[in-house]
Amino acid sequence: MSELAASGVSNRNHGSNIGTGTIPQGSGAAARVLDAEMNWLAKLLDAAIRLYFGQPCEVDDIARIDAPDLRDETTWYARIVREHITELDERVTLALALAPCLRPQLLDPLFARNPNLERAFSEFGGTARGTHAGFWPTYETAAFVVGATTALERRIRLTRLAEPDHPLRRARILHLEPTESAVNWFDAPLRVDPLALSRITLGVEQRPDYSSTFPARRLTTPLEWDDLVLHSGVRDEIDELRAWIEHSRTLLDTWQLDRHIKPGYRSLFYGPPGTGKTLTASLLGKTTGLDVYRIDLSLVVSKFIGETEKNLAQVFDEAERREWILFFDEADALFGKRTATSSSNDRYANQEVAFLLQRVEDFPGVVILASNLKGNIDDAFARRFQSMIYFPAPGQAERLTLWRNAFSRGPRLAAEVDLEVIAADYEVTGGAIANVLRHAALSTLRRGGETILQADIIEGIRRELRKDGKTP
Ligand SMILES: Nc1ncnc2c1ncn2[C@@H]1O[C@H](COP(=O)(O)OP(=O)(O)OP(=O)(O)O)[C@@H](O)[C@H]1O
Ligand SMILES: [Mg+2]
Repeated sequence: MSELAASGVSNRNHGSNIGTGTIPQGSGAAARVLDAEMNWLAKLLDAAIRLYFGQPCEVDDIARIDAPDLRDETTWYARIVREHITELDERVTLALALAPCLRPQLLDPLFARNPNLERAFSEFGGTARGTHAGFWPTYETAAFVVGATTALERRIRLTRLAEPDHPLRRARILHLEPTESAVNWFDAPLRVDPLALSRITLGVEQRPDYSSTFPARRLTTPLEWDDLVLHSGVRDEIDELRAWIEHSRTLLDTWQLDRHIKPGYRSLFYGPPGTGKTLTASLLGKTTGLDVYRIDLSLVVSKFIGETEKNLAQVFDEAERREWILFFDEADALFGKRTATSSSNDRYANQEVAFLLQRVEDFPGVVILASNLKGNIDDAFARRFQSMIYFPAPGQAERLTLWRNAFSRGPRLAAEVDLEVIAADYEVTGGAIANVLRHAALSTLRRGGETILQADIIEGIRRELRKDGKTP
């Protein structure tokens, strides 16, 4: 079997991590790449039929037909090929699995009947599937296309695709159904996992909806990484976490540190309200191209014991396969010191907590837990964090940057406003500053004015300080 290195199929360890790095191109690019792939598959199929029946053919082996070069493509399909595929038969199998969805008529030649036996060719494999009118390929079909019908060695090699450890199966791209195929694996229909299919075809993925049975919601922010204002010490720690997200694959796979390092990363963000914990979690996802999901803890403890566990398990499973960052807000409620159980509700709560702790600990991706207090976190649990990052209230310099950023857009500031003095005089957090901006802008609008006055800002600050029980 020939190596596909020349066409972008190279050592999978050097491929980029699916889900991180550059964000995949959209559906236009996806269609172009897939179209080329289907053209290639059609040529292979034609050649395979010609070679098998001894008809004239331009090549003596389908391996001589060049596969599309995917080295510079960033679509999901190209990345899957780069990351998980090293050999021709794998790529053919994946392309064949996509064909019923992308170009079903491509497989029509396989409906040809064997005139000697007046039945379909067993060599072609294929199966009927529900309402699909076309030919549905099986692993037998893949064997036929790669010329493994008569070459037993090639045929046997193909069976490695049935192994749960095969990269295409481990990454949940090729789906193997437990059907009668247990009798003969070659009869199993070729199927691409629905999630992989939506990534491959749409270029984006369909996200599950938040519901009572799916207690997680995607966190997004219109802000950018540069808008984040942090103490340099905090930034260092955040940069380390970001580096982990970006490079953990290299660390674990290429450097083979996976024997010493567990794949997941758990970080606790703690500190006063409004200091940017939630914002940082959202931005970590935004800059690395990963989705961040916030688990709704109010839905975690439900009256229906078992249900919650099932719902949570679903979130963790989805999170693992889609490489989400999981975010738990107000985590102290969950991970605080276990209190003696009093009511029956608490007992269930503790049962769910135990389940959650286990899943958090085993999760192979990034989990961020946010809390206002550190003292409350169970010691045993604290030891399991890779990092505990304290988000202090911003100092004077950070406050000044926050104020300047806040007023960089929207209505202009009156000449009397001196943000340096405001930053020096009032100890407020980024969250409070965002609220002051809202208040000041609204006051300006209500006045019919166009510039924000010093008084608007000071009044906004007063309100914020009053909320905290402080008086300015
Ligand atoms: N360090 C920061 N840099 C830039 N903006 C910030 C920062 N901290 C807070 N903000 C602003 O305040 C808003 C609220 O902050 P955020 O929700 O991240 O606080 P939090 O630490 O999660 O608070 P809580 O503990 O109450 O959940 C942000 O959306 C952002 O507009
Ligand atoms: Mg928060």
